[in-house]
Amino acid sequence: MGNKFYLTTPLYYVNASPHIGHSYTTIAADTLARHMRRVIGEDKVWFLTGTDEHGQKIQRAAEAAKLSPQDFADKTSLQFKGLWQKLDISYNDFIRTSQERHIKTVQKVLDILYKKGDIYEGKYEGLYCTPCETFWLESQAPEGKCPDCQRPVEKITETNYFFKLAKYQEWLLGYLNNNRDFIKPSSRYEETLSFLELNKLNDLCISRPKERLSWGIPLPFAPGHVTYVWFDALINYISAVGEFDENDKYQSPWWPADLHLMAKDILRQHTVYWPIMLHALGVGLPQKVFAHGWWLINEDKMSKSKGNVVNPLEMIKKYGLDAYRYFLLRDVPFGLDGNFSESAIIKRYNSDLANDLGNLVYRTLTMVEKYFAGNIPDVDLSEHNGDRQVAGITAKIENLKPLVYAALNNQDFSRALESIWELIGVANKYVEDTKPWNLEKGKKEEELKKFIRILVEVIRKVGEELEAFMPQTAALIREQIGSSAIKKGSPLFPRIC
Ligand code: ME8
Ligand code: MG
Repeated sequence: MGNKFYLTTPLYYVNASPHIGHSYTTIAADTLARHMRRVIGEDKVWFLTGTDEHGQKIQRAAEAAKLSPQDFADKTSLQFKGLWQKLDISYNDFIRTSQERHIKTVQKVLDILYKKGDIYEGKYEGLYCTPCETFWLESQAPEGKCPDCQRPVEKITETNYFFKLAKYQEWLLGYLNNNRDFIKPSSRYEETLSFLELNKLNDLCISRPKERLSWGIPLPFAPGHVTYVWFDALINYISAVGEFDENDKYQSPWWPADLHLMAKDILRQHTVYWPIMLHALGVGLPQKVFAHGWWLINEDKMSKSKGNVVNPLEMIKKYGLDAYRYFLLRDVPFGLDGNFSESAIIKRYNSDLANDLGNLVYRTLTMVEKYFAGNIPDVDLSEHNGDRQVAGITAKIENLKPLVYAALNNQDFSRALESIWELIGVANKYVEDTKPWNLEKGKKEEELKKFIRILVEVIRKVGEELEAFMPQTAALIREQIGSSAIKKGSPLFPRIC
């Protein structure tokens, strides 16, 4: 990672309210943004999110709600914004594809590619799945059903505009062969590579006739057509942070993006369409595309179209924001699928948050009160008189930051949290092994001081490293031990029965 960090989430469709899946990507991005602000500086990080507002799905949802597409999009887009506020999401910019700044850039892109001969007029005949906004070949949908969602596809024939994907297939293959880290996790890299090796790309149909779909960005050279929603939406990543100059050269202080985050459902759009679009435009490619796994409910993908969604607001009301953030990032390694259940949240909450973290903070502060009248003892921790347990803890305190940094460099949130919990674990064991109540009876004042001081240092360190994951908890910890006299509050995570 260089001297700036530009990070994006997908632009979520506004056809329905946000659910846990959307909150997952956004919380992961928020954690990375907060982390990188600490590493390279507040003003060196740009975190973009937003909403994808055009296309058939949204036009139909608006009709059903008896609203204009714009009013409907305004309404749902606000729901996303409202949720991000409740989830403490520190985005720098929220782009909506119905905004002028975006429309202008999309039309510019279309113009450039049309002039260049990479967009041409042709006849489209084939099958189309409206809910997925995806075209299929007869061979891909043999029973007239969408291979992705199993719903019926529609047969259509019409004049449309096409983007020359096929022309760039060899280039993309070459690029991927030379850039193994472009797509993560590596299983997704392999998937993309073998897809390109085994299939011949078709040119991409990037328009819809207005009579079939009016809610979209008009093609500047063919106003009877609007832009296909995927071609439109991907461009947000550049329309949000820069512009094309008079020589059609893209200028931006932030581009190329350092990381595009999303789930595996939209891998191909980001690893095939998007790189080819950028390359055709003469714009540099993003550093990395990371496609994480899915949250499932009873082994089935959580999705609005299946109606099995869980509302994040309910979860944070029940368990608190930081417990929710912690659960999502800790319970499933980033990249794999996970089963969502409240019993899994409660388990994590009681064991990791109440028993481990909450208990360590509470018992330490209680001892500072009891033995030192609330003042943190001031002692030199650099010598540990050959005490191996103390030496081990001190080493772990020092190693924590590099471990967390290394894990987050690879978007390995659960690994980073595990490292933090290893330190919490050895500190709790230290309390149990030392039995401070015996130290006090024996009047071993110096040892008691040192013992307490080490625990306070552990908590301080843990608080620091938790900052990006659990900002509210980190603030509470700072408040309680931030100065030389502690401020004990109630336990951070009271057990849930
Ligand atoms: O695809 N588990 O929008 P979308 C994990 N507008 N993540 C999930 C998830 C789940 N069950 N369900 C959704 C679109 N997500 C396009 C994107 S980008 C230029 C345009 C998250 O509303 C995950 O990030 O369907 C996934 O990729 C995204 O929401 C899809 O959101
Ligand atoms: Mg989707």
